[in-house]
Amino acid sequence: MAYRNLEIANRGAVRTITVNRPDKLNALNRETLNELTLAFTQASQDDAVRVVVLAGAGEKAFVAGADIAEMHGYSPVQAQGFSRTGQRLMSLIERLGKPVIARIQGFALGGGMELAMACHLRIASEKAKFGQPEINLGLIPGFGGTQRLLRLAGRGAALELCLSGGLINAQRAYELGVVTRVVAAEALDETVDGLADQLAQAAPLAAAAILDAVLQGGETTIDQGLEFETQAFALAFSTEDMREGTTAFLEKRKAVFHGR
Ligand code: COA
Repeated sequence: MAYRNLEIANRGAVRTITVNRPDKLNALNRETLNELTLAFTQASQDDAVRVVVLAGAGEKAFVAGADIAEMHGYSPVQAQGFSRTGQRLMSLIERLGKPVIARIQGFALGGGMELAMACHLRIASEKAKFGQPEINLGLIPGFGGTQRLLRLAGRGAALELCLSGGLINAQRAYELGVVTRVVAAEALDETVDGLADQLAQAAPLAAAAILDAVLQGGETTIDQGLEFETQAFALAFSTEDMREGTTAFLEKRKAVFHGR
């Protein structure tokens, strides 16, 4: 299917979804949010896709935020719908059941930072810039930023970024735990592709269980989280992938996982 605001590419089991509005720094209007929701739904349903990379077109921005021109005319009811649409997309990405890597080469601001934080792994170029500048517009983050930044970086960093509206560089984002790796701009594609290829070869059911356990664990008590881990661990013993993985180890060969 053709999208107006996205580009989709497949490389083996890695699907790259690129927000493609570079003249607007890939700002998220309603249509783009809807297309992203469709694209991620399709990726979740396609067994041939094992990893998703989310990127922004052009050199300058991953995504520079929600579309301010579109939001300018919103009524509170429209704003509520916009926020809910964005939040549902972020939750869809977070709960996709397959690893999602954000490739961040430039600005990841407002809704762009929120989109990146909904991904499981964030690889940033040293040129990337992050921020929640909504307060400068008399607004607050509306796609989960107050909640995911709090969980990723803690209360102090969440309040400082959201209240100041200031930008931070990739190194500071790394120090705060907002990005998982910072690399030279020239090394960004190689790093993202390498990680995506590695994750694409991992056992898919085990990957899904790890994503689930870590995400659920962040929202439960340690005892509930440990119990969830035990159940998921036991369930892994019912999979062909577990037989293949352990047999391959004992036979000193590389395992090939089929997600069964
Ligand atoms: N929504 C809508 N349009 C946006 C946008 C956004 N969030 N961010 C950038 N754009 C548009 C600009 O309006 C401009 O469009 P135009 O050429 O039709 O005028 C184009 O993208 C290029 O942006 P520009 O501001 O000219 O680039 P810059 O290099 O001077 O500045 C930024 C880059 C990121 C600092 C600046 O664009 C910016 O502050 N963007 C808004 C960030 C923000 O507040 N995000 C949170 C929104 S809730």
